[in-house]
Amino acid sequence: MLNRNSDHDGSAATVSSTDVDPDPTRDREEHTPLTPADLLDGIEAVRNELQQVIRGKADVIDSVLIAMLAEGSVLLEDVPGVGKTTLAKSIAALIDLEFQRVQCTPDLLPADILGSSIFQPATGTFDFRAGPIFCDLLIADEINRASPRTQSALLESMAEGQVTIDGRRYDLKQPFVVIATQNPSGFEGTFPLPESQLDRFLLRLSMNYPDHDNEVELLLHQPTDDPDFKLEPVMHRDDLVHLQSFVRQVQVDRKIAKYVVELACATRRDSRLRVGCSPRGSKMLLRASQARAVLLGRDFVVPDDIQSLAEQVIGHRVALRSVSGTSEEATQIVRELVQQTEVPV
Ligand SMILES: Nc1ncnc2c1ncn2[C@@H]1O[C@H](COP(=O)(O)OP(=O)(O)OP(=O)(O)O)[C@@H](O)[C@H]1O
Ligand SMILES: [Mg+2]
Repeated sequence: MLNRNSDHDGSAATVSSTDVDPDPTRDREEHTPLTPADLLDGIEAVRNELQQVIRGKADVIDSVLIAMLAEGSVLLEDVPGVGKTTLAKSIAALIDLEFQRVQCTPDLLPADILGSSIFQPATGTFDFRAGPIFCDLLIADEINRASPRTQSALLESMAEGQVTIDGRRYDLKQPFVVIATQNPSGFEGTFPLPESQLDRFLLRLSMNYPDHDNEVELLLHQPTDDPDFKLEPVMHRDDLVHLQSFVRQVQVDRKIAKYVVELACATRRDSRLRVGCSPRGSKMLLRASQARAVLLGRDFVVPDDIQSLAEQVIGHRVALRSVSGTSEEATQIVRELVQQTEVPV
């Protein structure tokens, strides 16, 4: 346990509909913006601390941080017990983000995530009871167990950065990132996310098991098992927002943009694929590449950024022609297309 008091799974706060403060729970001190170099030091500190807690998963840690810097959400597909919640909680603790977790089940209603208006007979007004979506980092566990109606309510709000309830609009917080999980096996009783919903995730990732040595290490020295263990913030949440705007300004050479479009076109031409990467997918690949550049301390994108992110960004946006095809096959095709596409020099 990371001893976060904001980790109150699924509970909701009451907020008046007349002045909804998307961050009603905390008094935060004024924070002086940092220099770009200090911002980069901050995210590097988050990255280093995470590697101490989540063993042998430097690549997954980088991908999740890239999604956060690119203002995107993550679909984590993996079996239980591989550290998904620990990773999300640790990120929240290190950046001082408000964290909420929702366990998706078929009877979960949109209002259980978004919130609802409740009539107050004393005043004759409606008060908005904010749902867990009004946080900085939401983990939606087993998203494919929620009904399609609840999935789409969550994912539409996630993509639009706002919730509309009874005709009123409520802005979500900034930063706001969703990490949704689903178990790749055991489809009974699930509602697989349709293509249109999958497209809303910036990245799809798997944690995978740690290697042998890292698993031995985690058995012998796992700091989060200590009840007194608490990860202290090493970065201010406002600095994450600054880094996100920094990412948008990362230079993109025309050759790089053409490379992304060439890759997207290759997926559209491939006869094994029924649906190729959309222009939204190309934009997301570029944004994620800008975020990777920032994470690695660069202010320009290089082809390696595109190559290393293509599978995670495009793999879930393409659809196989064969109905029996698996998501691994789609990812494999994207990998091949990356290898075949000429790299700009
Ligand atoms: N790579 C890893 N590094 C460090 N700890 C790990 C790792 N993988 C699993 N663990 C440990 O395993 C335990 C379970 O992890 P956690 O609850 O985060 O898994 P999960 O993937 O969220 O599982 P579930 O799908 O059941 O929610 C925790 O004690 C966590 O610290
Ligand atoms: Mg979990």
